[in-house]
Amino acid sequence: MARCLITRELPGGASDRLAGAGHEVEVRRERMPPTHEQLLQLAPRFDALLTLLTDPVDAKVLAASPELRAIANYAVGTDNIDLDAATARGIPVGNTPDVLTETTADLAVALMLALMRRLREGEEEVRAGEWLTWEPARLLGRDLHGATVLVVGAGRIGRAVARRLDGFGCRVLTAGRGDSLDPLLGEADVITLHCPLTPRTTGLIGSQQLAAMKPTAYLVNTARGPIVDAEALLPALHDGQIAGAALDVTDPEPLPSDHPLTRAPGLLVVPHIASATHATREAMADMAVDNLLAALAGERMPHCANPEVYEP
Ligand code: DGY
Repeated sequence: MARCLITRELPGGASDRLAGAGHEVEVRRERMPPTHEQLLQLAPRFDALLTLLTDPVDAKVLAASPELRAIANYAVGTDNIDLDAATARGIPVGNTPDVLTETTADLAVALMLALMRRLREGEEEVRAGEWLTWEPARLLGRDLHGATVLVVGAGRIGRAVARRLDGFGCRVLTAGRGDSLDPLLGEADVITLHCPLTPRTTGLIGSQQLAAMKPTAYLVNTARGPIVDAEALLPALHDGQIAGAALDVTDPEPLPSDHPLTRAPGLLVVPHIASATHATREAMADMAVDNLLAALAGERMPHCANPEVYEP
């Protein structure tokens, strides 16, 4: 029997399987994530954690938790966890790949369409009583079909986005790990980010990259906020260096409602919802619980972000 902490309530019944397997389970029922200080207090009481991408599991939390032997992150990304420190301790860290790929790709394309076809402005006009008649030159946007789209990140989600764009008749350019973006930035009508957040990708899209984009081009980020330098994005939008940006993820996250970016022209922002469908969030919970159950049974996690822990 292991003591497991689930840091927030999850959709579906997956967490019941932990108790069903004889483990002692505590679920934090608060809406807000634990702060670093709270995690430092909480984690040492547990053998296993089921964490969210909002939970900072750094080396300090790990060092304070000598009993900890498994972490399952309820996300495909694991940038909230110090993987090196976990690996050094022999703690497997699970993640939830695959199950959110298609759902995330759907949202990336939805953001492109919403941004390029100015859905938010159109809706605002209707609600404000400004829909006076059909007008030949009002709310003109740009076509996604036939556009050149640069997909940054050649992993599962990037490939799923590229497949969808094929159906739109887009010309898809892909930049994988190690590929230079420089020759591609000026060609794209849309740049969509699908790479993990690492030291190499932090600030990948900064003032230089934004300046190299076409003034009619759009940026879409459904990956992680810090991949885009928010300080550079703000003037790029105000100065018309690019036509717009759609962000599912931001830096900082959450984006305060009075953040200057919220007033920038051509910005569409949603609150990190790329994987937010009933089916996908339940599948993620199932996968996270499977990861913990396996680790607690002394088996290999089916989806482990630091498989080195299993190497002799
Ligand atoms: C992830 O899993 O990393 C996404 O950002 C949230 O679904």
